[in-house]
Amino acid sequence: GKRMTVPGLKGRKVDGRTEQPIVMLTAYTMRMAQLLDPHCDLLLVGDSLGQVIYGLPSTVPVTLDMMCAHGAAVVRGSWHALVAVDMPFGSYEGSPEQAFASASRVMKETGCAAVKLEGGEAMAPTVRFLSERGIPVIGHVGLTPQAVNALGGYGARGRNQAEAAKIKSDASAVAQAGAFCIVVEGVLEDVATGIAGAVEPPVIGIGASAECDGQVLVTEDMLGLFERTPRFVKRYDDLATRIGSAVETYAGEVRNRSFPTPDQTYRPKA
Ligand code: KIV
Ligand code: NA
Repeated sequence: GKRMTVPGLKGRKVDGRTEQPIVMLTAYTMRMAQLLDPHCDLLLVGDSLGQVIYGLPSTVPVTLDMMCAHGAAVVRGSWHALVAVDMPFGSYEGSPEQAFASASRVMKETGCAAVKLEGGEAMAPTVRFLSERGIPVIGHVGLTPQAVNALGGYGARGRNQAEAAKIKSDASAVAQAGAFCIVVEGVLEDVATGIAGAVEPPVIGIGASAECDGQVLVTEDMLGLFERTPRFVKRYDDLATRIGSAVETYAGEVRNRSFPTPDQTYRPKA
């Protein structure tokens, strides 16, 4: 089949209603992309790879080189989902021109169809600049992890009137500027529901609301493969435990010489 397109995704929301919610997960590697792709509309090469793959303390140190390398791997491992790559901190905030240079490099080097960048009203001119020049943009408002040093942590946003209003106006600004999709992260449920009902592009929730036009999670979180699990993560499996016990069995068999068996060894042909 043909890969999901930007108009195809936008077209899933008609008259403010999304009949079939959009399924999105993060992917950082070729093999994981292959496994997720048949089930997903969108694969996000998230800058969460900073913590999940590289053991960094936040997404702040993530580089364009990292995003390009993992983005290319995910595009190679997928054929159905639309692949979007996160713009890392420091690669786009300086000016629309800086953002265009960084985003066009990401598209050329990875073959992805879209980029995602964090921010609201302040980033709206940049979203417009990219969108009008052939770079489809996914917005990201609410809890924006690249701003952790300014926000002071990863707690839910929109807990007071002023903050809720700011998140709503951020989402509207990014929508008006031409974002084809908006991720709303870590906000009170009614704030997310309000945004999904108010803006034209599909709203993808994470720690948001079931009334959003779609949902995204960090794959390693939902598979139980990563130790950090915020409230909004539902664990669909416990792969860390399963991998631990498989490796424990292997280690025991190596130590008592019961692996390899004749099935895994070569002998002269008869
Ligand atoms: O980096 C990431 O994984 C993300 C999603 C959680 C939306 O931005
Ligand atoms: Na991200």
